[in-house]
Amino acid sequence: TKKIAIAIDGPAAAGKSTVAKIVANKLSYIYIDTGAMYRAITLKALENSVDVNNEQELVEILETTSIKLVQSEEGQRVLLDDRDVTLDIRTSEVTNNVSYVAQHPKVREDMVARQQQLAEARGVVMDGRDIGTKVIPDAEVKIFLIASVEERAKRRHVENINKGFPSDLEQLKKEIEKRDLIDSEREASPLVKAEDAVEIDTTSLSIQDVADQILHQVQKIL
Ligand code: C5P
Repeated sequence: TKKIAIAIDGPAAAGKSTVAKIVANKLSYIYIDTGAMYRAITLKALENSVDVNNEQELVEILETTSIKLVQSEEGQRVLLDDRDVTLDIRTSEVTNNVSYVAQHPKVREDMVARQQQLAEARGVVMDGRDIGTKVIPDAEVKIFLIASVEERAKRRHVENINKGFPSDLEQLKKEIEKRDLIDSEREASPLVKAEDAVEIDTTSLSIQDVADQILHQVQKIL
């Protein structure tokens, strides 16, 4: 059977990575979390006291930075210069700074080039904000996931509590809204639904329902 590219975009905490993993598993495709790549360079900037608003310095550190997404038994691991940063990129410090780093056109140019290389061979499920519009504009299946901010904050809250992380629902709501605003209003490939993407509102759907709807879109063209 032919291998395709599946692009999944949408706002923060809409469940993209959860369903992307299920879909990738089902099809034996590779899952690529592009948000993890922006998070990794954000972590490196914070660790090296590089200002997240300094585009030139960010581009310079990117030039000598390796970011690898590797599949392991415990799921996908993120390697920053061959150091495992899978957990470190999920802290609220990284989460609350990543959208500033991702605003810069030259940072995006570098990231998009890396992501396009990863998608070249097809057989990929890639999630992010600009996958259907910019990274893989010719993706065979494009999905745009949305959900109310209340629902997204609630899901993230439950996730945090289950992981034993401190969590404040109102705070989460504010942070999600802030990140969506920056991601949607930036000039360089903002978060926007591709014209030919299928929009799925996941507010009152289960994870499996969403995955099934995406797989249905895939079956239509395979
Ligand atoms: O997907 P995740 O929430 O981990 O993404 C973190 C941040 O990375 C987003 O809020 C956005 O600022 C940036 N991002 C992006 N383009 C992508 C993926 C993520 O700008 N394709």
